[in-house]
This record gives sequence, structure tokens and C-alpha cells, in this order.
Amino acid sequence: MSGPQVYLDGQFLPLSEARVSVEDRGFLFGDGVYEVLRASAGRLWTEEAHWRRLASSCREVALSLPDGLGEPALHGLVLELLERNGLSAGEATVYLQLTRGAAPRTHHFPPAGTRPTLYLSASPFTPPWEAREQGVHAITQPDVRSLRCNIKSINLLPNLLAKQRAKEAGATEAVLVRDGVLTEGASTSVLAVIGGAVCTHPDGPFILPGITRDVVLALARDAGLPVSERPVRLEERGRFEELFLASTTLDVVPVVALDGLPIGAGRPGPVTRALQRAFYRAQGVVPPRLLG
Ligand code: PDD
Repeated sequence: MSGPQVYLDGQFLPLSEARVSVEDRGFLFGDGVYEVLRASAGRLWTEEAHWRRLASSCREVALSLPDGLGEPALHGLVLELLERNGLSAGEATVYLQLTRGAAPRTHHFPPAGTRPTLYLSASPFTPPWEAREQGVHAITQPDVRSLRCNIKSINLLPNLLAKQRAKEAGATEAVLVRDGVLTEGASTSVLAVIGGAVCTHPDGPFILPGITRDVVLALARDAGLPVSERPVRLEERGRFEELFLASTTLDVVPVVALDGLPIGAGRPGPVTRALQRAFYRAQGVVPPRLLG
């Protein structure tokens, strides 16, 4: 095979030959939305939830998928993309991006009939078992994003700056704090265990409605754990028994230190471990070592 294959505007082609116009509004304005999905052995994780969120992001920014590309067609495209990349058998991620298409630069929308640009790629994925097992460090950063965080927009500059700060600090994630409240990570949902309850920011304009977060909250409820979707304040951090991240690529990852200071005992805690186990049981995945 001649390198990775991608899907762009109606056709599959080698990544090395894929081109978009410099007038594409994704390039000029970040005028687009995206999704990241996981595939294991050709099975897409929580697929319907991803299509639902894509539809919601599109609605929020008045963007439509190209004609004829409903969920069944997207499903077929993703499976064909995995197949063409030899990824039907292993672990993979799929990236989907939709922009408002190419048109002379104007802040208002381009003329009706401008074709949106749809791009999909698939990559082999190595699950981060070490982070899941040992936990990671995080730092806090001010949440300076817009008030439309529920949209999975490709406008990610504040997230990128925060993540870069984390990297420079030797940490894995930046936990964003708005008006003293933990909202979410630069690319993850953030959940705290306080008084035995799993606490996380409620859905709304301040966070992305994380799909892994929803799965984890449902598992917590099923396990009889108290769940509280409420603003968690940074000043409560002395009472954090545990802190963890949730996302499509991390699954559930313990945060063992925040801003250089340990969370709880400074190692993954029992609630996070129980949720990790429940998560893999629900997915039918046998983790390599984890969670002894
Ligand atoms: N990030 N919050 C933000 C800001 C995110 O970017 C993500 C996902 C999440 C977790 O959402 P989910 O569980 O649906 O993946 C929360 C993706 C993976 C990314 O940008 O690569």
C-alpha cells in the first residue's frame, strides 16, 4: 500500500495527494467542526453518540454535511477508510473534520451552494496503558475559551496553548479553571472524587459534552456511586480524594498530582480504579496489567 489513505470531498486518495484550497474556511477562520472516534477490530466505540454530537455541533454553527451523507453513509465511509488503511483488525482512531468550504474570504457565510469540505483520516492507535495504570500529572490553566465550548469546533487555540503549557511543565494535561471552577481539560473531561462522590462540571456552554464522561457517569451510577454534576471549585482541592481524566483516547486516566502537589495519596485511588474496571468490562476489553 502507498502510505495512508484518507477521504476528502467524495473520494478516497493517498494522504500525500490530498489537497484543500487555501480559501477553505477551515484554513482561513477555523470555521468548522470535528469528531475523534475510536475503533477496535472494526467496531466503532459509542458511534451513535459521536454522530449525535456531530449533528449538534453542525446545528450550532449552521453547517450541514454534504447531501446524502447521513449516519449510515458516514458509518460506511469510516469502515471503508479503516479497511483501506489495513486497520479493520487492530486499534485505530478516526478523525472527521467538516468545514464551511472554500470561498473568497468574508466574515459572513459564503454564498448558498458553497460545498462544505469533509475530511476523514484513520491512524493506528497505541492505547496509553502506562498512563492509565500509573496516573499522570496535570497543571491548572485559566479557561480563556469562548462561551460555546459545547461545540466541537476546530477553533482550538486556547486549548493548544494550555496543552503546550502542560507539556512544558512536564505534565500530561491542563485542567482549565474559569472563575475558580474546574471546567474540563484542554482535550479531556475532568472528574473529581469528593466525599466518595464523582463530581464533574454540568453540561452546558462551558464544556464539551464528553462521550467518555457520559459513559463513566452512567457506570458510576450503575455501581451505586453518588454522582454530582456541579461546578467543582479549585479551592476545594484539599478535599479531592481523587481526580481523573476521561476522553476517547485516554479512556479513564488518574491524575495523581495537580500543579506539582499530590492528589489524595498521590497514586490512583479506588473509585478511579473501580470505574476503569467497569469501563473495560462494559467494552469487553481485557486490560494488559492494569488495576491490580
Ligand atoms: N478531545 N473536552 C474536550 C475539550 C475535548 O477536546 C475532548 C475530546 C473531551 C472528551 O470528549 P470525548 O470523551 O467525547 O472524547 C472533553 C478529542 C479526543 C480530541 O480533541 O482529540
